[in-house]
Formats: sequence, C-alpha cells, structure tokens
Amino acid sequence: MSLHIGAPEGAIAPRVLLPGDPLRARFIAENYLENATCYNEVRGMYGYTGTYKGFDISVQGTGMGMPSHSIYVHELINSYGARTLIRIGSCGSIQSEIKLRDLVLALSASTNSAMVSQRFGGMNFAPTADWDLIMKATQCAGKFGLNIKAGNILSSDTFYDEDPESWKNWAKYGVLAVEMEAAALYTLAARFGVKALCLLTVSDSLVSREETTSEEREKTFTQMMELALETAIGIE
Ligand code: HPA
Repeated sequence: MSLHIGAPEGAIAPRVLLPGDPLRARFIAENYLENATCYNEVRGMYGYTGTYKGFDISVQGTGMGMPSHSIYVHELINSYGARTLIRIGSCGSIQSEIKLRDLVLALSASTNSAMVSQRFGGMNFAPTADWDLIMKATQCAGKFGLNIKAGNILSSDTFYDEDPESWKNWAKYGVLAVEMEAAALYTLAARFGVKALCLLTVSDSLVSREETTSEEREKTFTQMMELALETAIGIE
C-alpha cells in the first residue's frame, strides 16, 4: 500500500499506462486487457492490472495537472517498482499544421510550472522522453500506418489562463501543443532512472478554436491506446 494507491506489493506491473481520466483506465482494462483486476479505488482513481499479448501491464488514472499526476507516478515508481510509464492523454494544438485528432509524441515538455525549476534552484531542466520508447512508438506507429507529429509540447499549470493568448509565445518557438502533465512525468522518470513517454491526441485547437466531438475523441483515443500498449510490451 502507498498513500494514494491501495494495492498490495506486486499487484502493479512494471509497465504502466497513465490516462488522466480514471474511467479511461477502466475502459482500457475492460477492452484490451485479459484477466484484468482492479487494484485501486482510492479517490475513484482506478487502477487495473491484466495482460496484453501475454505481458503483464497496468493502467492507472492520474487525474489532471502535474501535482496529481506526480503523486501517482512517484508512488508507482517508488512503492510498486514501475519501470516503463506511458502517459496517454489529450492536448490542444497551438500550430496550424497540427490538426484535430492528430497523434502527438512529446519528445520534450516545456512548462510554465515551477514544479520542475524548483528542483534545480530556479534553473531550467529539459524534461525529455526516453529514447527507446520514442523509437518503439515510432516503429509501432509505422506498422499501424499512423502518422505521428513529434516535438516539444507545453505542460501548463492552467487550463483557463488569465491571458488567453499566452500560448502564442510558445508557438513562436515551435511548441506543438499544450497539455498539463508530461513535464512532471519526464522529470520524475529522470530522477528515478525509469523510462517515460507521453502520447497525446489533439482534442482541440487553440489556433482554429475547433474541438473534437466526444465520438471522435473515443475513436482517436482507441488508436493511441493500441499504440501505447504495443510500445509498452516491446520494452523490458
Ligand atoms: N490546454 C491544456 N490542456 C489541454 C488542452 C488545452 O487547451 N486541451 C486538452 N488538454
């Protein structure tokens, strides 16, 4: 048991998928995992372990934002031995060529949060995805015929920003999209010597102000889940 995850030791696999929404965790367990059992219901933040193509795999909801995400990632690594962590989530595009429903692979995650810089006395650390996972995800996407947009993203502390145009400065520097968790995931993975990757589907565009319908979100999320599962099982 850890503080926020009510699972006994050994109940969580070394490979963990991390959707923000705990109901997505349940969806993945019910639709993709064999012999899935729910190991956590604390705070409604469901976690499941099962097998995918014969490999043990867990899927854990993390909530929204870097503080919530960090709590689960810290405990998964340090209390349960997670070694490969793949976030799957949604993002808002801040480039006109990044379209609704596109798949984004976050090579790196810039942030407007103090959560990373406070670990370095105010200096800037560059949160970066794991190379083996980048390679594996890219290979799997090719196999599935999925087109991936890879690059820097922004992990923001705010969804409703005081300045609704604040994304434009990040866009000027080539940042592809905004979400709220990856910089914390990559920083914790670096700190504890484990592998992490963040895959995102574009749910809305801050450029065109378009949004996907819930039906479209479901479909693109499914492709991303399959890509994340295939990527996770290819890595020891
Ligand atoms: N901002 C932050 N996170 C998001 C967004 C956004 O516009 N869309 C999906 N996740």
